[in-house]
Amino acid sequence: MATLDHLHFVKAVLRSPAAVGAIAPSSSVLARQMVAGLELPPGHMVVEFGPGTGPMTEQISKVIPSPDAYVGIERDPNFVKLLTERFPKMRFVQGSAEKAPEYIAEMDHQQVGAIICGLPFASLPPSVQDGIVDAIRQMMTPASDGRPGTIFRTFQYVHAWPLPTAVRFRRMMNGLFGKGRISRPVMRNLPPAFVLSWQV
Ligand SMILES: C[S@@+](CC[C@H](N)C(=O)[O-])C[C@H]1O[C@@H](n2cnc3c(N)ncnc32)[C@H](O)[C@@H]1O
Repeated sequence: MATLDHLHFVKAVLRSPAAVGAIAPSSSVLARQMVAGLELPPGHMVVEFGPGTGPMTEQISKVIPSPDAYVGIERDPNFVKLLTERFPKMRFVQGSAEKAPEYIAEMDHQQVGAIICGLPFASLPPSVQDGIVDAIRQMMTPASDGRPGTIFRTFQYVHAWPLPTAVRFRRMMNGLFGKGRISRPVMRNLPPAFVLSWQV
């Protein structure tokens, strides 16, 4: 399975290197850290951006109350086909994360409890970053009535941390949602990565 996933991944990288922005699917160690401690209030859903071959989807499937509390948004149709075969009860939309609020508006009236993001922000151009950050802003619902607010979680590779596009993304997020939490580097991933979280 892992080798097959790498093959699918390499093919996707060759088709669109900047949009994939990685050399391999995330490890199960990083994927577990991306969903660690997630609490989903009743009626809330998880939105995943860029599930790829599904390492984080697999971990999310273990913490959601039912498959309809999930939607994955993936731009690559080949990954969407693979994900649908692998997680037949879960819902995937082939499209761009920028349009997530539109896709969700057409679904059940569920609020977004968590956004788990596997997008390669450091390799996305500023105009695409802006559109996606605006979509995130529209979906982040502040805490109320004792319920936690929406949590947004993503990762950044250690080697890409100082890149202007990566710094720009963190600045935008900190400006909108307050200073984010940064994990220790997750070394058991190729390449090593930090997990970043913002919660409103
Ligand atoms: C770095 S890979 C991560 C894949 C997977 N989450 C993982 O951790 O192995 C980035 C993924 O985001 C997808 N992607 C890139 N831009 C996107 C966009 N604007 N909307 C949705 N998916 C996108 C790519 O096709 C790819 O599957």
